[in-house]
Amino acid sequence: MSFDLSVIPNKNIVLAVTGGIAAYKSAILVRRLKDAGFNVRVVMTQGAQAFITPLTFQALSGNPVHTELLNPEAEAGMGHIELARWADLLLVAPASCDTLAKFAAGLADDLLSTLYLATKSPVWVAPAMNQQMWAAKATQRNLNTLVEDGVHVIMPDAGSQACGDVGLGRMPEPEDLALQVTQYFHRAQRAIAEKFGLLAGKHVVITAGPTREAIDPVRYISNHSTGKMGFALAAACYAAGAKVTLIAGPVSLDTPNGVHRINVSSAVQMLDLSMQMLDEGCDIFIATAAVADYRVAEIAEHKIKKAGDELNVSLIKNPDIVATIAGQQKRPFMVGFAAETRNVEEYAAGKLVAKKLDMIACNDVSRADIGFASDENAMTVFFAEQYQIQKRDLEKASKQEIAQQLVEAIHDALHHEIEPV
Ligand code: C5P
Repeated sequence: MSFDLSVIPNKNIVLAVTGGIAAYKSAILVRRLKDAGFNVRVVMTQGAQAFITPLTFQALSGNPVHTELLNPEAEAGMGHIELARWADLLLVAPASCDTLAKFAAGLADDLLSTLYLATKSPVWVAPAMNQQMWAAKATQRNLNTLVEDGVHVIMPDAGSQACGDVGLGRMPEPEDLALQVTQYFHRAQRAIAEKFGLLAGKHVVITAGPTREAIDPVRYISNHSTGKMGFALAAACYAAGAKVTLIAGPVSLDTPNGVHRINVSSAVQMLDLSMQMLDEGCDIFIATAAVADYRVAEIAEHKIKKAGDELNVSLIKNPDIVATIAGQQKRPFMVGFAAETRNVEEYAAGKLVAKKLDMIACNDVSRADIGFASDENAMTVFFAEQYQIQKRDLEKASKQEIAQQLVEAIHDALHHEIEPV
């Protein structure tokens, strides 16, 4: 899919700081934008450097600061065109009178004015200046031109100014600016989700069903998992606009429409394929498979013959697929399942931490009306510490409806938009 749906933590902001006393507020703005999960690169005009040093912004943004247009060294790093393409938003704060005039006139005599012309991303300006300069006809004329050109103007606050005047011209507080930026990306994300689906643009990999661990060419160890939950989730993720790869153990279920299914037998095969999917780019990994905890240490080459009253088969531990994927450096959003017969919530919360998951859905399989072979399910979802919500109860419903509720929970967690309970 061609459209970019990366969530807010992967959005790039070029913060341009121009000459004005409000430049000190921009240092805090970088902090707040970083706190909200944005990648930030700072561009400074000559004027800005008279108020605050590039080193401050370098330390706060964690990136080199861009100051010059015609600097071969800087251009070799991230040149102005690359920077213009990198930006998901060009935020000019504070925006001086001079910068507004340059933008309005289409000048390109320094890095920032060139960037402004070279970027396709939205441009926001937060003017900050003396109230008389703000009110000046030329400034207002330039602002009108910018608005006509599609620039978003963040209105200055009124109040006492550094120069002693009182009036319009103060840059809004950094917290307020960061909030406006965050809300803008959330709105954009929601609009895309409404149009293309909650998981549009994501690659979801799902493990499902049991695994089958061979003892000899004709016998195996397995379990009663039917794979229904994993298949229902695959269908729900596809319906939510995701590209779905379903790594299925031996089950007798039809492949949901639009889903790419790969059949496997053993836990080791399931892990190998899961790792391959990681290499191919996986955004969300959902482990619904009932993986056999142990496999036979040495699979007999030929059928084991009946002999004596006892047969000893030595078993060794299978790899934990979901924990292995979660332990990788570049890991997807990880969802696990826990089927328990007692202390359901306690065990599930323990697995969330032990397996380094982002989310775990657990159900009480001691209840006859839900779980394993049943068509209905009821679940409680726990989220890792960094999410705003820690727990969400899903209503008892068909596995299809539960799958839909899980897709919503994944979407909400990915967007850090979960309402506190
Ligand atoms: O430890 P337990 O089997 O209860 O954990 C359940 C969760 O871990 C499920 O999401 C299951 O798919 C996953 N799992 C796994 N590999 C294993 C064992 C469990 O991916 N070997």
